Amino acid sequence: MRAATAPTDRPAGPQIEIRPSPSLRLGDKAPDFIQDSTQGPIHLYEWMAESWAVLFSHPSDFTPVCTTELGMVARLKPEFDKRKVKAIGLSVDPLSYHDMWARDIAETQGVELNFPLLADADRKVAVLYDMIHPNAHATETVRSVFIIDPNKTVRLIHTYPASTGRNFDEVLRVIDSLQLTDDLQVATPVNWKLGDDVVILTSVRNQEADKLFPQGYKELKPYLRITPQPSR
Ligand code: BEZ
Repeated sequence: MRAATAPTDRPAGPQIEIRPSPSLRLGDKAPDFIQDSTQGPIHLYEWMAESWAVLFSHPSDFTPVCTTELGMVARLKPEFDKRKVKAIGLSVDPLSYHDMWARDIAETQGVELNFPLLADADRKVAVLYDMIHPNAHATETVRSVFIIDPNKTVRLIHTYPASTGRNFDEVLRVIDSLQLTDDLQVATPVNWKLGDDVVILTSVRNQEADKLFPQGYKELKPYLRITPQPSR
């Protein structure tokens, strides 16, 4: 049974002026906002509290790729919870559309939307986060991903084209890397995943490394020292 159908009377969206604004960069403070969502109005900083956040945008409601992405993020909620991360989606359609779409997501993806989806019909957040790339589409957002840490600092920015569904395992992998390397004097090498060997920061001298990494390390080059992943 079909739960909902895409409205045919979709509003064209506001005539927004996209001003060339300084892009958000890694290390910047994440812009705070208040916006409606499927879980009521969200004030970003208050809603995040002490958690990390993954903010990700969708071109529009009732689109196939986005439907699969929202189902996947809902299924991954236990993985986000384990890492103290709150997910929050955004689509530039009104709340009434989101509510209808949520029924389709539950029906087709077999999981309820268990995190908020911002109803950014006025493009307030989309413009704040530079999610509209006018040469890609005049009013719809591209697929942006922002990882924001508990200090409200932007730690990752990914931009995907509208036709490419994102890999949320990769988002979790980056969060694992950030949370590990924030606490320890290591970085994570190519294709690293939780439990794999890591590399010791070049700023750490061997004498200090001997103390910090009692499991030992392999020195392939003075700047390339590999050690088993230490626990946090
Ligand atoms: C989608 O979510 O399926 C989609 C959205 C915009 C362009 C292409 C695909």
